[in-house]
Amino acid sequence: MSLLTRVSRAAGGALLRATAAGRHRCSKSQHHLQRVHSRLVCAGAGRMGVAGSCRRGNTEQDSDGGGSPVSGRKMSTHSNNSCIGDLVEGVICQEDDLPKDGMKSFEFNGEKVLVVHHNGQLSAIGSKCSHYGAPLENGTLCEGRVRCPWHGACFNVTTGDIEDFPGLDSIPKYDIEVTEGQVKVRASKTLLINGKRTKAMAKRDPNNNSSYVIIGGGGAGASCAETLRQEGFTGRVILITQESQLPYDRPKLSKAMDIAPEKILLRSEGFYESGDIEVLMGVSAEGVNTEEKMVHLSTGDTVAYEKLFIATGGKPRRLGIAGDQLPNVWVVRSPQDANALAAAAAQKQVVVVGTSFIGMEVAAFLSTNDRAASVTVIGNTSVPFENSLGHAVGQRIQEMFEEKGVKFIANSGVVGFSESDGKASGVTLDSGETVEADVVVLGVGVVPNTEFLEASSIPRNQRGYIPVNEHLETSIPGVFCGGDIAAFPLFIEGGEEVSIGHWQVALGHGHTAALNMTGQSVPVKSVPFFWTVLYGKSLRYTGYGKYDDVIIGGDLENLSFIAYYCCGDKVVSLASLGKDPAAANYAEMLQQGKSLTKQQVIDDGEIALKLKC
Ligand SMILES: Cc1cc2nc3c(=O)[nH]c(=O)nc-3n(C[C@H](O)[C@H](O)[C@H](O)COP(=O)(O)OP(=O)(O)OC[C@H]3O[C@@H](n4cnc5c(N)ncnc54)[C@H](O)[C@@H]3O)c2cc1C
Ligand code: FES
Repeated sequence: MSLLTRVSRAAGGALLRATAAGRHRCSKSQHHLQRVHSRLVCAGAGRMGVAGSCRRGNTEQDSDGGGSPVSGRKMSTHSNNSCIGDLVEGVICQEDDLPKDGMKSFEFNGEKVLVVHHNGQLSAIGSKCSHYGAPLENGTLCEGRVRCPWHGACFNVTTGDIEDFPGLDSIPKYDIEVTEGQVKVRASKTLLINGKRTKAMAKRDPNNNSSYVIIGGGGAGASCAETLRQEGFTGRVILITQESQLPYDRPKLSKAMDIAPEKILLRSEGFYESGDIEVLMGVSAEGVNTEEKMVHLSTGDTVAYEKLFIATGGKPRRLGIAGDQLPNVWVVRSPQDANALAAAAAQKQVVVVGTSFIGMEVAAFLSTNDRAASVTVIGNTSVPFENSLGHAVGQRIQEMFEEKGVKFIANSGVVGFSESDGKASGVTLDSGETVEADVVVLGVGVVPNTEFLEASSIPRNQRGYIPVNEHLETSIPGVFCGGDIAAFPLFIEGGEEVSIGHWQVALGHGHTAALNMTGQSVPVKSVPFFWTVLYGKSLRYTGYGKYDDVIIGGDLENLSFIAYYCCGDKVVSLASLGKDPAAANYAEMLQQGKSLTKQQVIDDGEIALKLKC
């Protein structure tokens, strides 16, 4: 029987919220090759170089690395690659071609493998990030892991395991050894082609009566559910989501607004079935009784839990003025919102209220290829992103939009809507001016989806976020919380309580919460990393904190720059565009507990490109 339940009455970021306060005054190694420890892909082939029966097409359940040392047996020394079942082996380069201490990708059997020679260890792993496929060779190597240059995911260089997010999968690890000056690799052809490795999941044990319940099927909820199984939990895993589809890649919604939801699912239906993860779709949690350990559902049913993870995310803020609920006044949070808005905006006059990342991505999408007849953006600052990225960067981004025909109305508040035939026909500004509109999009932040907990004993802070400790546990033992709604201690800020609306943070929280739910004691210790895409240009942002000065290195005019946000003498965050891996390097530096000084960036505006572990 299917574990997926669809209930017919389905219900329907504060991006950089953490920094939205913005520009406020802020008070080796010896070249010694070792044979790597390896665990073979080939079942029955105990060690490298031993033929056996291969597990074909079973990459989704492949090993998570580790294992026994390579035996003294040598690999085939054929000059061409040789194949045994699903395995392929061959020479990828000469020993002298290896990086002295670093990483380099090599062609192998029509694909690429990333060879890492680090701290005297040699390893070979997948060459592409499991998230969107960035070449990891261009990322940051530090402390046994490589950080992706695009959005900051991290992979262990020995096992290929994912250690920081976004992305859910690990990458393959391959066997590598040096024999008589030749560097040889052995790999599963399937893994080589897939380039990703999904960790094995435990099966449900019917004798285990524990029930771990997750409320919210977004990034955090999805990551928690699968991590529970990957960590060997064999009780019931129940994922409750009020949406009518399986968890999906929410950041895509404002970048590819017309994309079909089934194209952006994080995992297939079969995946959840194979992991015995029960997904209740179209079901809302309406309350939690922590005494009885019960979740009350919109269906009238209750679900008992032993441990609970709450990750209900944000919901778009409305303006709270008459007219903001009219049918052509849109927000974007779900695929249904995005798809319907994209269709409604075709060849229409669109007014975007708010210069948040979501509003600006929507404006970029609708002004590309003349999808909308016109796009006007209304902001309450002098340029977009002024609070989060500073005036100069915001100004340059505005110019980029203006080159595409987008109009901006700055320093303006919206005080009302004019109405015609039950629809908004214009947006009225505090100046008295009315801007004509067929379609209005609100991009004015999000509020946490936590009202349903009002009657529960789970505390919320004044803004409605749920405080948690470093293990993401609330003050109620066994009740965990993560993602957009969590108020959690940020390790790079000495444990300051923050709420951060980033996809990477949400996936990481789900993972860490699951580790702690399964009895481990793992603090949340990840550097926030955010990205946005505007007209195909990716801006990366990492770090955290209010700033009082911005120093820009590189070439802002040509959109190839690094912006350093400083608070006093210290750089607290960084944004980059066209300067990879500056953001990954800086994130890794923060991860290691180090920091940059303002003077260092004054001396060298491109220092983030040169940071070494
Ligand atoms: C359009 C858009 C674009 C974005 N782009 C980026 C980006 O480029 N980069 C980036 O880093 N971040 C981006 N974000 C932010 C990122 O998507 C969020 O930070 C992330 O989704 C938060 O994950 P979450 O699991 O906490 O919450 P969500 O992903 O919001 O998931 C929460 C889930 O819980 C469900 N739910 C809510 N209440 C209940 C209830 N009572 N019962 C059952 N289910 C419930 C919701 O319907 C939802 O499915 C974007 C967000 C949006 C909306
Ligand atoms: S492509 Fe690597 S983190 Fe996104």
